[in-house]
Amino acid sequence: MCGIIGCVSKENCYEKLLAGMKRLEYRGYDSAGVALLSDGKFAVRKRRGGVSGIAGAPLCGDTGIGHTRWATHGKPSDRNAHPHVAGKFALVHNGIVENHARLRAELEAEGESFLSETDSEVIVRLIARLYEGDFFAAVAAACARLEGSYAIAVLCSDCPGEIVCARQKSPLVAGAAEDALYVCSDIPALCGAASYIAPAADGEFIRIAEGKIAFLDAQGREIPKTFSRVEPCAAAETGTGSFMEREIAAIPRALEDTLAALRRTDFAPCARVLRGAGKIFAVACGTALHAALAFKDAVEGEVGVPVLAHPASEFRYRDPLVGEGDLVVAVSQSGETADTLEAARLAKARGAYVLSVTNIAHSSLAQEADFNIAMRAGAEIAVAATKSYNCQLLCLYYLAAQLCFFRKTRFPAWFAELGTLPAAAREAFGCFAQMNELAARLQGAQGMYFIGRDSDVRTAAEGALKVKEIAYLFAEGYCAGELKHGTLALIEEGFPVFAVATRRALAKKCENTLAEVSSRGAYTVLFSQYEDVLAESCADAVCRLPAVCERLMPVVAVIPLQYFACRMCVLRGYDPDKPRNLAKSVTVE
Ligand code: F6R
Repeated sequence: MCGIIGCVSKENCYEKLLAGMKRLEYRGYDSAGVALLSDGKFAVRKRRGGVSGIAGAPLCGDTGIGHTRWATHGKPSDRNAHPHVAGKFALVHNGIVENHARLRAELEAEGESFLSETDSEVIVRLIARLYEGDFFAAVAAACARLEGSYAIAVLCSDCPGEIVCARQKSPLVAGAAEDALYVCSDIPALCGAASYIAPAADGEFIRIAEGKIAFLDAQGREIPKTFSRVEPCAAAETGTGSFMEREIAAIPRALEDTLAALRRTDFAPCARVLRGAGKIFAVACGTALHAALAFKDAVEGEVGVPVLAHPASEFRYRDPLVGEGDLVVAVSQSGETADTLEAARLAKARGAYVLSVTNIAHSSLAQEADFNIAMRAGAEIAVAATKSYNCQLLCLYYLAAQLCFFRKTRFPAWFAELGTLPAAAREAFGCFAQMNELAARLQGAQGMYFIGRDSDVRTAAEGALKVKEIAYLFAEGYCAGELKHGTLALIEEGFPVFAVATRRALAKKCENTLAEVSSRGAYTVLFSQYEDVLAESCADAVCRLPAVCERLMPVVAVIPLQYFACRMCVLRGYDPDKPRNLAKSVTVE
């Protein structure tokens, strides 16, 4: 949420900042802005809306900062757009200053006038007040007064070629290239720009000055850091259409790459935990939570061990029964989701072993976990997760198989079939023509249900989340058997109900539910890989899924639903890549 970037370049840095901000835009698109420092003066351009809104004649300066905003304090507007300037300082901020009201009141009492409604402006005014000629000292002193979360990048008009940054609970990474030095919120946003990167830890500062990057503590003492080569990011999927469509099209390749990486992963370092962990938890948010729930199904079904799956936002505040010797699996595409990170930290503090599954190898979660499974979904630009979900499922099934191996000295029968998933995913694209027709037919619907049983409920929930998120249509993923305990009352003529029935043993039960909603006028669609189940159904439309073993089916069954949501979004006139009110990488709680 909110992207920040800073750049000190050998030449004008305007284009570099803008290119970085374009790559950061999925973190927020309520407003965009840059400040460049030249001859002791700031050139600032900022505006409500996306990065394209501030493009224009380049501003001058080899040192600059940029911001893409996801509004928290203060509505999206030109005034609330970053950078914020006070005296000799310009600042961009990602995070939430929780004591901003108190600080603002103090500063106002001292005569400061604020130009925006943001919490961020408090920081820059505080820095300006505390400045006595030492740029770094003023930033460090201001940070000492902040409560909450922040990643900031600050310019000082007295200090050409210098940027001072600080991190507390919001991601911040430094990057080096031949012709420029960077700080940024995201590793993916540095892909293609920087060759080497090093993330900052909480409480650390980064200073770019005199052509060098230094990591410092609050007293200004240097902290040694090792820079790693930036792994080449799969370039944003090529082709036409939205990123979301291209990312769906990239699912087979993402699965292939992830499977290859999994086969290279050495699980020996966590063998003792996989074999002997007391309780097993899975924590995640949103789409990743649906993957965590599918992991629960697989481990309970194959290993016979209970898994407690929690939304990370609940886990961290409910005094969970986690302790010494337990295993907590934390799932996060970005590896920066605030609630998931805090849940993992809480688990570690209580002595549990944290295993993360992330798409960003150097993310905060990957760094802090005891063991990380790095999936290889490639850069995901669209805010709605698609290919990362399929890859999360793949990683978690792989992990479930390892648990089975370490506890039962055998792999589950389906372990050998993981290699069939990329081809099956490709085959699922065969459903797209039908999804186009369904989206055209249902685009005016007022709401819809997605139902299933067992792991199909995870697919249903993910299908519903996608429809809500990008098509702005009320949708609910529901256990088929629960429908008649209240929710059935909402079914009326034409109400769409999508049923996922990929478990043969439960298909008849699902069919019964379809019959119940059909007889009340619902428009029903059934998804299954079984010809006979489809042939015998009363559904208005049926969609045949590729034949995949039942346990692994969620990886593939969700694909037509991801595509359906995308088409519904486009037909209803929205942009699938930038859903309203949302942003990728939820680094605030
Ligand atoms: C939905 C979506 C979100 C994320 C959630 C967790 O399409 O993208 O629900 O899944 O914000 O994000 P990560 O996986 O980065 O922790």
